Amino acid sequence: MKNVGVLGLGIYVPDKVFTNFDFEKILDTSDEWITEMTGIKERRFAEDDMDTSDMAVLAASEAIENSGVAKEDIDLVIVATSTGDHRFPSVANLVQDRLGLRNVPSMDQLAACTGFIYSMVTASQFIEAGTYKNVLIVGVDKLSKITDFTDRSTAVLFGDGAGAAVIGEVDEGFGIKSFELGSKGSGAPHLYDDAETGKLQMNGREVFKFAVRQMGESSVNVTEKAGFEADDIDMLVPHQANIRIMDAARERMNMPKDKMSCTIDKYGNTSAASIPLSIHHELKNGKIKAGDNLVLVGFGGGLTWGAICLTW
Ligand code: ACO
Repeated sequence: MKNVGVLGLGIYVPDKVFTNFDFEKILDTSDEWITEMTGIKERRFAEDDMDTSDMAVLAASEAIENSGVAKEDIDLVIVATSTGDHRFPSVANLVQDRLGLRNVPSMDQLAACTGFIYSMVTASQFIEAGTYKNVLIVGVDKLSKITDFTDRSTAVLFGDGAGAAVIGEVDEGFGIKSFELGSKGSGAPHLYDDAETGKLQMNGREVFKFAVRQMGESSVNVTEKAGFEADDIDMLVPHQANIRIMDAARERMNMPKDKMSCTIDKYGNTSAASIPLSIHHELKNGKIKAGDNLVLVGFGGGLTWGAICLTW
């Protein structure tokens, strides 16, 4: 059995910061409501001339550089996104060309906010099977493209960003120990991109209830499957959708606050990018170190969910 993990990570977030106070100027909302109900203080928005693929390319090139893997040794590109530049070609096709990679297979994967976890698991399966050695994965979304900025119940939640990783073989004892993926298409009406308006529609209450239950359950499941106790987990890295959902998962795991990655205050919900952005943030702060046991857990439109337990 091969040990599969992250060889290098890269991120990109746009420079433009949009605070809760900026929202107070355009919507009937308040910094107090947004902070209390979601944990978000500010988010980043990409300019009009920066599309999803532009963010993906920037994060991916940093990931490749940090991995030490040569561009010619990347064997597959998977981009997790719900906000691709076009219906086709895929963002992954554009990334393959713009990074000057070989003519390797490249494809997008759509699992909304769970996308990065889906892509990491997909990459790991190709590597374990011996089909490919190094897989570039990117979680990227420009949700501002599909956000209705007149709807206060959704507009304040999202931000733009990208996170990328090169997945490959790691030393024994490191890498992915267990995973879980799931979907429940009957939940589609609660969170979707409306074809007529081109804008995201959400039944916040329903998504909230689902997420609170599923995030906790999946975190516990992958921890057990990996043969760990909750105490063995050094950090929980949840999809950053709402601090109350994240805290519920953490409480289900009986983990203290300082063992949960929290970047939602800075970036809002960046969909497929939120997990790699958070890991990157904790690595920079020294809160994730080599040998730490992590649980990554996410949920999103679909409805979809997924979790991974790994040793960094
Ligand atoms: N500012 C002020 N008031 C607001 C705002 C706002 N931005 N948004 C909603 N409200 C009001 C509502 O109008 C409502 O007022 P009313 O009682 O007078 O009707 C009140 O606040 C409560 O609204 P609810 O929607 O019932 O509040 P809830 O407790 O459900 O919280 C929230 C809303 C924060 C959106 C929550 O439901 C949530 O986080 N849901 C999950 C969202 C999520 O994680 N989505 C993931 C998307 S991931 C993906 O795949 C893209």
